[in-house]
Amino acid sequence: MSLTVRRATDADFDALIEHDQRGFGTTHAPGWIEAVRRLLDLERFLFAEVDGVLAGVTGAVPFPMGVPGGQVGIEGVTWVSVLPTHRRRGVLRALMEAQIPTLGTAVAALTASEGTLYGRYGYGAATEYRRIRIDRRFAVFRPEAPDPGGVRMITRDEARTHAPEVHARWAAATPASVLRGPVLWEYFLDDPADERDGGTALFHLAHPDGYASYRMHHDRGTMVVRDLFAATPEAHAALWRVLLTGDFVGHLETTQCPPGDALGFLLTDPRLIRTTEQRDGVWVRVLDVPAALAARRYARELDLVLEVHDPQLGTSRTRLTGGPDGADAAPTDALPDVVLGASALGSLYLGGHRASTLARAGLVEGPGVAALDAAFVADRPPMHGTGF
Ligand SMILES: CC(C)(COP(=O)(O)OP(=O)(O)OC[C@H]1O[C@@H](n2cnc3c(N)ncnc32)[C@H](O)[C@@H]1OP(=O)(O)O)[C@@H](O)C(=O)NCCC(=O)NCCS
Repeated sequence: MSLTVRRATDADFDALIEHDQRGFGTTHAPGWIEAVRRLLDLERFLFAEVDGVLAGVTGAVPFPMGVPGGQVGIEGVTWVSVLPTHRRRGVLRALMEAQIPTLGTAVAALTASEGTLYGRYGYGAATEYRRIRIDRRFAVFRPEAPDPGGVRMITRDEARTHAPEVHARWAAATPASVLRGPVLWEYFLDDPADERDGGTALFHLAHPDGYASYRMHHDRGTMVVRDLFAATPEAHAALWRVLLTGDFVGHLETTQCPPGDALGFLLTDPRLIRTTEQRDGVWVRVLDVPAALAARRYARELDLVLEVHDPQLGTSRTRLTGGPDGADAAPTDALPDVVLGASALGSLYLGGHRASTLARAGLVEGPGVAALDAAFVADRPPMHGTGF
């Protein structure tokens, strides 16, 4: 078999859509196809061809992602699939290995269809994602829980201004956040009828520091919250109070409430928040160790040498000094305080997993584990908010 990997061009758009439908076994709605046509830069896509047939694809979309203490520009790796007729012959491996040198940022990230695929290419599971279901009939707020008010229903046109502004503030403060650009906002707020899964059009809630949208599925007595972005604890409490005290439906479902969210502590019965699905969320791949480490902030002062074993990019040593106000990182020959693989570094990068946990699994070693543990942890639960 002759396997070649090439960059795609604009002329490949229809082939990309056809391949994606076959690769994922799905049919894309026309509204979605038009949105992605405006969103994607085909030059950021690689096509794997086997004996001249398009057999596999990987792509990248750049966007700012939240990290502890700020945001970094990342490449979001996406649209990865191999035709059902060409699997388990090394097409994914060829694509992933060809893509790494083309990624132009210090950090890349993806979300994975399966948990076994990407560790071998240096990606590490960095956040947890969950879907929850709440029986609203029994949801009661603690008597002393904050009740800041200030939520109003707004039109879709009002949301076009309010939602991106509040979302940008939420994203700047939330590790793993995906900053939605104008095209994505337009797509989300256009709310195409063929993408409503049998539900109503979206309803929009605005708080001065928050935004939520939901649709009703009256046939199954469920409210599905699609967006919930709160830049302050007041906005978070105020929006949840409105969402949980409505009538007409029995259950609320959402993926916008990550593990560690404060909602459980606002309610008299935290067990009402039933997790119906929980798994890895964002996977992070550090491509440039010094640049990536210097781009985030740390909960405690630290001065450590990290030795990173990277399956594609080789072994490197980096001295990291920093704390809550910023960090410096540079290559060094000094002896390491911690030794870890690229995938483990990816798992730690957003502060969603603890170094001590990975050390117990044998993935991080050395006398610096405790310092890494205290410094890397994020001050709020990572949440990406938008799939990619
Ligand atoms: C997942 C998918 C991309 C794998 O492509 P592929 O070309 O069959 O993968 P490869 O043959 O290159 O395998 C690469 C490595 O992954 C392993 N692997 C691939 N698919 C696997 C699976 N489903 N479970 C476990 N391991 C898997 C292979 O054993 C191989 O390991 P090795 O190189 O270390 O020996 C392909 O099955 C697919 O398109 N699935 C449907 C769409 C999808 O899930 N896309 C991923 C979205 S994140």
